[in-house]
Amino acid sequence: MAKITASVYTSHVPAIGAALDLGKSGEPYWQPVFKGYDFSKHWMVENKPDVIFLVYNDHATAFSLEMIPTFAIGTAAEFTPADEGWGPRPVPVVQGHPELAAHIAQSVIQQDFDLTIVNKMDVDHGLTVPLSLMCGQPQAWPCPVIPFAVNVVQYPVPSGRRCFELGKAIRKAIESFDKPLNVQIWGTGGMSHQLQGPRAGLINREFDNAFLDQLIADPEALASKPHIDYVREAGSEGIELVMWLIARGAMADVAGGPAPKVAHRFYHVPASNTAVGHLILENK
Ligand code: DHB
Ligand code: FE
Repeated sequence: MAKITASVYTSHVPAIGAALDLGKSGEPYWQPVFKGYDFSKHWMVENKPDVIFLVYNDHATAFSLEMIPTFAIGTAAEFTPADEGWGPRPVPVVQGHPELAAHIAQSVIQQDFDLTIVNKMDVDHGLTVPLSLMCGQPQAWPCPVIPFAVNVVQYPVPSGRRCFELGKAIRKAIESFDKPLNVQIWGTGGMSHQLQGPRAGLINREFDNAFLDQLIADPEALASKPHIDYVREAGSEGIELVMWLIARGAMADVAGGPAPKVAHRFYHVPASNTAVGHLILENK
């Protein structure tokens, strides 16, 4: 059977992608950001998954106000990088895993979550920046990726509770797939940031670090945090953090297993307008 071996959490700041692609990662501003991922790149080599289930949000690249799926699973064989602003990043095309993705869609929909099935989708910095941070600049990404897009851009957005419950359903789905695949689940976006309005530039270190503590130790309680608390405390784009609860809900301890091992934890301000947070949790 397939197994979830670890979960990874990371911010997706687009300027990080631009810094990498333009060869600026060694500059004094960026160096401390990338240093936080040195461990992670080695860890990825030593713990190479067969598939990454990557929870992220689209930023009006694949979807627009014309169509707003709350939860969308990418079932295609490949996904082309695209982006607003800086344009498509010069990164490898993302290979999908249609067979596992179709199985997850079947299982999760039968567990009463209404997923949108997307057979053609471009992927933006929300997906490619986490891959770059964890894998560097390879000719090809190390394994297939199943993109799972969550609407955290256009209201109404899903609650942390629903995201956490969805994570549990995704775990059941993956672990009922009849092939011995090593699957990682990644939750991306965040941490505190606000890109617009009078509070643009908001960062809340205290909130972010308390979120990391609770995500590790008591995700069930964290799941009951109402969305308005994210917006008030972590800024309008801080709501991206509910996506981390999907990955956390898929970990073994939530289903009665042992607590995960914290393999790595990192927090840094600033990167563009955003507080960068990063965690790696291993199932034991
Ligand atoms: C920034 C952060 C984001 O999450 C995003 O989608 C766009 C920009 C920023 O920090 O500049
Ligand atoms: Fe974003």
